[in-house]
Amino acid sequence: MESVANSVQLPPLDNPNERAAVGGELQVVMQDLIDLSLIGKQLHWSVVGAAAHGVHLFLDEVVGEWRELADVVAERAVTLGVVPDGQSAAVAAGSRVESVAVRSLADHAVVWELGRRVAAVAERIRKRLGSVGAADLVTQDVLVRVVGMLEKHQWMLRAQLGEKA
Ligand SMILES: [Fe+2]
Repeated sequence: MESVANSVQLPPLDNPNERAAVGGELQVVMQDLIDLSLIGKQLHWSVVGAAAHGVHLFLDEVVGEWRELADVVAERAVTLGVVPDGQSAAVAAGSRVESVAVRSLADHAVVWELGRRVAAVAERIRKRLGSVGAADLVTQDVLVRVVGMLEKHQWMLRAQLGEKA
């Protein structure tokens, strides 16, 4: 019998019947992360006020991290044999992130608006960790790292609003 180590087969899941479902979970997380990165960039252009420069620079940092996370999540889906759709139409249809108004926005409002969207995405993923883990622990690990990063960003946004830890 051929050794698993020499095989090019797809990774065996803890529950192989869940392959498409796990791929679907990864796709929607990827779409939320892409949308967060687009909204973050939008707010990077909209921000005004005394703290605008710092917020503007901070937003580029987190946008870069969300784009990298979206790539990690997408590549986990492909690793499992599911090709995710990260094109604009699919992101617009699949993302659960609320869009922002296209207008100038005060620095503190930018931080608040982004913070609640980041929190919502993190919470939605966190709620699915148990069921994802029952199907595939390695995917759960990828999503745990995503939640960890998003929750770190929540803290950094909260700190900019002057909220104590
Ligand atoms: Fe810029």
